[in-house]
Amino acid sequence: MCGIFGYVGARKDAGMVVIEGLKNLEYRGYDSWGVASSVAGKLVVSKDTGKISGVDAKSFSDESTIAIAHTRWATHGGVTPKNAHPHLSEDGTIAVVHNGIVENYRELKEWLSERGHTFMSETDTEVIPHLIEEEMKSGSDFAAAVRRACLKFEGRFAILALHTPTHTLVAARTGSPLIVGVSKKSDGNAEQGYFIASDIPAFLKHTRIVQYLDDGEMLVTDGESILFSDLHTGEERPKREIEITWTVEQAEKGDFEHYMMKEIMDQKESVVRAVNQDEAQIMTLAQSIRDAQGTFLVACGTAGKACMAAEYFFSVIARHHVNVAAASEFKLYHHFLTEKSLLVVVSQSGETADVLEAMRVAKAKRAKVLAIVNVEGSTIAREADYTLRINAGPERAVASTKALTGQLAVLLLIAHALAGKLQEGKTLLLEAGAMINDMLNPRYIERLRKLADRIKEDEDLYIIGKSWNYPMALESAIKIQEVSYVHAEGFAGGELKHGPIALIEEGTPCIALIGKDEVMSDILSNTMELKARGATIIGVCPDRYDVFDEWIKVPDAGTAQAIVNIIPIQVLAYFLAVHRGKNPDMPRNLAKSVTVK
Ligand code: F6R
Repeated sequence: MCGIFGYVGARKDAGMVVIEGLKNLEYRGYDSWGVASSVAGKLVVSKDTGKISGVDAKSFSDESTIAIAHTRWATHGGVTPKNAHPHLSEDGTIAVVHNGIVENYRELKEWLSERGHTFMSETDTEVIPHLIEEEMKSGSDFAAAVRRACLKFEGRFAILALHTPTHTLVAARTGSPLIVGVSKKSDGNAEQGYFIASDIPAFLKHTRIVQYLDDGEMLVTDGESILFSDLHTGEERPKREIEITWTVEQAEKGDFEHYMMKEIMDQKESVVRAVNQDEAQIMTLAQSIRDAQGTFLVACGTAGKACMAAEYFFSVIARHHVNVAAASEFKLYHHFLTEKSLLVVVSQSGETADVLEAMRVAKAKRAKVLAIVNVEGSTIAREADYTLRINAGPERAVASTKALTGQLAVLLLIAHALAGKLQEGKTLLLEAGAMINDMLNPRYIERLRKLADRIKEDEDLYIIGKSWNYPMALESAIKIQEVSYVHAEGFAGGELKHGPIALIEEGTPCIALIGKDEVMSDILSNTMELKARGATIIGVCPDRYDVFDEWIKVPDAGTAQAIVNIIPIQVLAYFLAVHRGKNPDMPRNLAKSVTVK
C-alpha cells in the first residue's frame, strides 16, 4: 500500500534523497506521489498523479536537510494531485504523509471546520496536520501534539509529520510498518541522519543499520538524535540497532527488464536458501505441531496457496492433520482455539493486516504462533512466538514468485521433519533447487515466451490440478490474473464435472498440472474430459501424453512437484503480461504489502 519515506540529517539534498528512495517503494503499488521539503524555513510541496519513475530526482536537490515523501494508493478521495500527500496544516508549517485510514475523519473534519480550518482535499489524511496544529494551539509542543492527535484517530495507520519551525520529524504507528535507517557519523558514515520508511529498500543505499518502530509507538528526531516512546504513555522505549543482511544488488533488478522476471530467475538459488534452516529448530517446531491440539495454517493470496499445498504435504508425508484458513476468514475460527492450539502464519512481507489480525485472534486465546516470513524484522516476525525465514531475499514485484517457492520449501521441510525424515526432505529440496536451476535456461524461457504469444488473445484460461497441484492451479490463476488481466481460474480436476466444464468451448486453453504420483491417472482422465469438450490442452508434466496439444516438460520432483510445476506458469504469466502490453511489476489495483483489512 502507500509508501512513506522521510529524511532528516546533515545532507543538504533531502528532497532528492526522499524522491530517489520513494522510487524504490514503487513496488508497493500507488497511483500518485508527493514530496515536501523545508527550504529556508518554508515548506516546498510538489505532488502529482501517475508514476514517480520518470521524475528527475535531481530537480529536488534543494538546499534542504529535512523532507518527507509519499506514494498514495487511493482510499478516500479520487486519484488527483490535490488528494496526493503530503497534506499541510492551515498555517503551512506542518506536513503529513499517512498510510492507513483515519476511520473517524468525518467527525474530526467537522470539529476542525467549526474552528476555522479549511480543507483542500477529499482525503481522511488532511485532518491530521490540522488536528496537530489545533493541539499545538492548546500549548503542546510538536511531538506532544502529534501524540495527542494520534490518540484521537480510530483505525490502523502509520504517519510521518514534518514541522518546519522546530526542524523535526515525528512518526507514529498503530498498524502499518515504519522502519528507521540510522546513519551515524560515529559509525564511519559520511553523514549523520535518520531515514524513516515503510520499507527497507527506500534507504538501503544509505545504510543497513535499522531500528523498528513497533505498533503503539512514536519517534521524534531532529537528525542529531532520535527518541522512541510509547504512543499512549509517553514512556521512553529504547531500541536495538539491527544490521540488515540484504544487499543493494539483491534489491535491484540488474539487467532484467522487470523485477518479476528477475525474481523468477532468483529461484535458481532461493529454493536452496530456503532449505538452509537450523535443523534443531525445525525439529522443535515439528514437535510443536505434533503436540498441538489443532494446527491452523493461515495466510492470504499466494501464501495461502502455499498453506493449502502444505495440507497435502502434511497428509501424504507426515500423516498429520492440519487445518487451513484464509487469514481474512480466521476470526470465525476462534471457537476452535485454545492455549494448546498452534497457528502457523505464512507471509512474504510480514506486514499483511489480515494475517496480523488472525495472530491477534489466536493470541487472545493464548495459542502459540509460528511465523514463516521473508522480511526479517517485519511485524509478523516480531509478534510471533517462533519465526522461520525463507531467505528469498527482497521480493519487489507485486506478483509473488520466489517467496512462494521458498514458502513451499520450508513447509515441505517441516512436513518431512514431522515424519522423522528431515534429511530425506532436505535432499529432495536440494534436488528440486538444482532442477529449477536447469529449467530456467534460455531455451525453456523462449518456449514459454512463444506459447504466451500464441495464447495472448484468449480471454479465458483454466488450470486444473489434483492433490498439491490443485492449490498450484489456484496459484497459477492468481499469477495470470494479476499481471496479464486474462480471466484465469483454477479448479480441482475432479470438480470439473460438477459445474466448470460447462465453460469449455472449442479451443479454450486449459493447463493441466501433473506429477508422477498416486493421482496421476485421475488428473489425466480429467484432462481427457476437457479435451473431449474441445479444450486445447497445455500439459505441465514430466512425461508427454497424447492428450496434450502442448507439452511443457518439467522434471519429476516427487513430493516437491508443486514447486517445479509452478515455475513455467510464473514465466507464462510474465510473458502473457508483456505480450498484452502490461507492466507485470505494477498490476492495476494491487499493492505489494497489504496493510489494510
Ligand atoms: C500474489 C501475491 C499476494 C500475496 C498476499 C499475501 O502474487 O503476492 O496474493 O501473496 O497479498 O502477502 P504476504 O505474503 O506479504 O502476506
